[in-house]
Amino acid sequence: MIKVGIIGLGTVGSSVVNILRENADVISARAGVEIVVKSGVVKNLNKDRTHLGIKISDNVDDILDDEEIDVVVELMGGVEEPFEVVKKALKNGKAVVTANKALLAYHRYELADIAKDIAFEYEASVAGGIPIINALRDGLSANHIESIMGIMNGTCNYMLTKMTNDGVAYDTILKEAQALGYAEADPTFDVGGFDTAHKLLILASIAYGIDAKPEDILIEGIENISRDDIAFAKEFGYVIKLLGIAKKDKNEVELRVHASLIKKDAMIAKIDGVMNAISVVGDKVGETLYYGAGAGGNATASAVVANIIDIARSGKSKPMLGFDKPMEGKLTLKAAGD
Ligand code: NDP
Ligand code: HSE
Repeated sequence: MIKVGIIGLGTVGSSVVNILRENADVISARAGVEIVVKSGVVKNLNKDRTHLGIKISDNVDDILDDEEIDVVVELMGGVEEPFEVVKKALKNGKAVVTANKALLAYHRYELADIAKDIAFEYEASVAGGIPIINALRDGLSANHIESIMGIMNGTCNYMLTKMTNDGVAYDTILKEAQALGYAEADPTFDVGGFDTAHKLLILASIAYGIDAKPEDILIEGIENISRDDIAFAKEFGYVIKLLGIAKKDKNEVELRVHASLIKKDAMIAKIDGVMNAISVVGDKVGETLYYGAGAGGNATASAVVANIIDIARSGKSKPMLGFDKPMEGKLTLKAAGD
């Protein structure tokens, strides 16, 4: 039996508990072992979570110091607090699964260094339920990656779709995305483009070994896009999408996040609502496309649970970022605005 401790039982954490219970038949068959949630940790013990049917505390050490727990799942959000939590989990020899792209945008190489032989997985951190990390790190590992481009934030795509198709006001639709559990705790990360940037940086590490931080790249969000902008674009046969873009050119990699005008007949223009779509071009395979729900409890928890199953199955770690170390000197980041 594999015992799991979950830190954070909000939108994603509670869905992880439910999936592990509701799909226990296929999960244990595929893992080759039973996987049970032993306990969870939250901030506010006053919220009613009896439906989850697990032991809950408000002290992370109840999980981190529990010798019976094999896998720690970090779903609390933030950067420095989860960094301390994950470091301690790894130092205590526990495998870690996280969906936290903000944490990885800042600390992925330090964590990879600490994890060494301990499994540390993060499939849900990019594009929710789409197995893009798996595809890029494993399925395309024979390729030089020429470009990565796509819609990587469900909240913004949901907002832009509703603003385009139904003329809904920005503030109204942002509140709806929050109520649906798509948005970050601080939605500035979504609408400001930072969440897309966090995801792009994770993908760029896997594809290129680039150790860049959000401050190093161009990031623009959708806050200044008005209903008029959208209406004008529509009149001329375009839609507006927030894109994350990574492009390799000789020894340089350009990373940028901004809204783009897309011809309405293009594939990416037709990606609506919370859906994400990412194109990855490899020098040998050509273009590959990944599409699916980019946010939401069940879609995201699907990827979290897949990581837990993988760990339960093999117990072994993979090189966390595909490359052991940043590929210093081989590929450099093109300065924003060049
Ligand atoms: P929520 O805000 O819904 O849940 C966060 C949970 O963490 C809550 O249960 C909260 O407790 C708990 N928590 C917060 N701070 C602490 C703390 N200091 N100690 C203990 N528990 C704490 O977030 P989500 O579930 O939406 O997101 C979780 C993570 O997954 C984030 O990193 C997010 O970026 C990522 N993610 C989210 C996706 C989504 O669609 N929602 C998709 C992909 C990734 P309490 O309930 O008491 O407030
Ligand atoms: N807030 C994020 C989004 C969650 O809307 O895409 C998934 O990473």
